[in-house]
Amino acid sequence: MTSSHLPAADPCTLVIFGASGDLTRRLLVPALRNLRESRLLPDQFAVVGFSRSAPAIDDLPAFRHVHGAFDDAAAWARLKDEVVERMHAVGSQNLLFYLATAPEQFLNICERLAEVQLLSESDNGWRRVIVEKPFGTDLRTARQLNQRLTAVMREEQIFRIDHYLGKETVQNIVVFRFGNGIFEPIWNRRYVDHVQITVAETLGVEMRGEYYDQTGALRDMVPNHLFQLLTLSAMEPPSALDAGALHAEQVKVLEAIEPLAASDCGTTTVRGQYAAGQVDDATVRGYRDEPKVDAASTTETFAAFRIAVDNWRWAGVPFYLRTGKRLRGKKSEVAIHFRQPPLALFRQASMAPPEPNQLVISIQPEEVIKLKIAAKVPGPELTASPVDLRFNYADYFGVEPQTGYETLLYDAMTGDRSLFKRADVVEAGWGVVDPIVTAWAAGSCTLETYQAGSDGPDAAAQLLTRDGRRWRPL
Ligand code: BG6
Repeated sequence: MTSSHLPAADPCTLVIFGASGDLTRRLLVPALRNLRESRLLPDQFAVVGFSRSAPAIDDLPAFRHVHGAFDDAAAWARLKDEVVERMHAVGSQNLLFYLATAPEQFLNICERLAEVQLLSESDNGWRRVIVEKPFGTDLRTARQLNQRLTAVMREEQIFRIDHYLGKETVQNIVVFRFGNGIFEPIWNRRYVDHVQITVAETLGVEMRGEYYDQTGALRDMVPNHLFQLLTLSAMEPPSALDAGALHAEQVKVLEAIEPLAASDCGTTTVRGQYAAGQVDDATVRGYRDEPKVDAASTTETFAAFRIAVDNWRWAGVPFYLRTGKRLRGKKSEVAIHFRQPPLALFRQASMAPPEPNQLVISIQPEEVIKLKIAAKVPGPELTASPVDLRFNYADYFGVEPQTGYETLLYDAMTGDRSLFKRADVVEAGWGVVDPIVTAWAAGSCTLETYQAGSDGPDAAAQLLTRDGRRWRPL
C-alpha cells in the first residue's frame, strides 16, 4: 500500500481479541508494521491484545496485553480499565475491535463489549468491530448473527472482512472494468462465451483439520472469496465508488443467480476429496489422514459448479467456479472466455481456426492481467498461434511487502466500508450456496476422490467437456 497522498488514519486504539493466534502473528502484526512504515498509522495509536495465552505481538510500540478468557468477568473488567487508560493516553475515544477469534466467540464478544459500554459511539469517538470469516455457516445462522450483532450496534459499525478484498488485483477488477472504456462494451452475453473462476491451492488443511472437517471447501471458500471475484467481475457499473453503491451492485448479481435445483446437483456440481499424492515433488498424505480429520470423513476439499447469472448482461453465459486444496498449482484467477470469431475465412485458407480470445485476471501466484490473442506464426505457411498481451503489476509498480490486511485495517480506521461486506451481501452469498450444501448432504452428488497434486476429480473436467469447453490449466 503506497502512502503517496493518503493521510494517516484517525487516532485510535486497536483492540485485538485472539492476540495469541495465528492470524494476529502472521497477518495483523506485519500489516500494522507495514502501515507504520508507510506512515499511515496515526501518531496517536495504541494496541491492546486480549487472549488466554501469551500474545503473538512482541515488538509493536504502545502494545498492552490483557490475559484472560472471553467468558471471565474479571478479565473483562481488566480489559475495560486498560482500554480506558489507552484512550486517555492516545487522546482519542475512537476504538477499533478486531475479532481474530474462533467464530463461536464473535457474538459473545460483541455482546460483552456492549455490556461494558465500549460500543456506544459519541461525537467524540467512533466504535468499530472487524469480524473475521466464517460469518455464519449457512443463511439461517448468518441472518441470526446479523440480527444479534445489529441488536448491540449499528450496521455501519460492523466491518465483515474478506481478505480477498485486500488483494490489489481483486480491487483492480473494478478499475480495470470501469476505468478502461474499451472493455465494458464487450463485457456481456453478446461477446462472452463463458467465465471461469478458479481458486486452487497446493496446501492441504494444515493444522486446521478440526475447523475444516466441519466446513468443507464449499463453505470455506465460495460464499466469500469466490463470490467476491464473481460479483466484482459480473456486476453493473456502480453509481459511485462508495460502499453503498458497490454493495448494492454485488447483491444484485448474487440475487440474479438461478437457484440450483437439487435434482441438477449431480450434473452441475462436483465435490471431491484428496487422496495421498505428490505436490511440488513432496509426497503428501490423503485428507482422511490429516490431523484432527475424521478417518471416514466425507467432507469435500474440492468444489466445482456451474451457475447462471440470469440478468440482461449475462443470460445464457455459464459461470464455472472451482476451488480446492492439494491441487497441481496455486492459482487464483478470473478468466473471461470470449466467443469464437466467424471461422469461414480460416476454413477457406485451410488453416486451423484461431482460439477464442481470453482475458485473464490473475491474482495468485502472480498479479497479472493478460489478453490472449491470435497471431500469425512467422513464415510462408498461414498458421495462427495464441499469444499473450501481458501486464504484470510488479513490472510497473514494483512489489511492496504486503499481507493484504494493510488496506483493510487502514480502511476500517478511516471508516471506508467499500472493501467490507454488508449484511445483505453475506446473506445473498449463503442463499446461493445453501441449496448445494443441502443437496450434497442429501447424497445427490457423489464424493469423488482425486490424487493430491492433480487437477481435481475427473468429474470436474467433465463438467466443462459436456458443454464443449475445458478448464484453463492449473
Ligand atoms: C481462507 C481459507 O479464508 O483462505 C483457507 O479459510 C484458504 O482455507 C485461504 O487456504 C486462501 O487464501 P489465499 O489468500 O492463500 O488464497
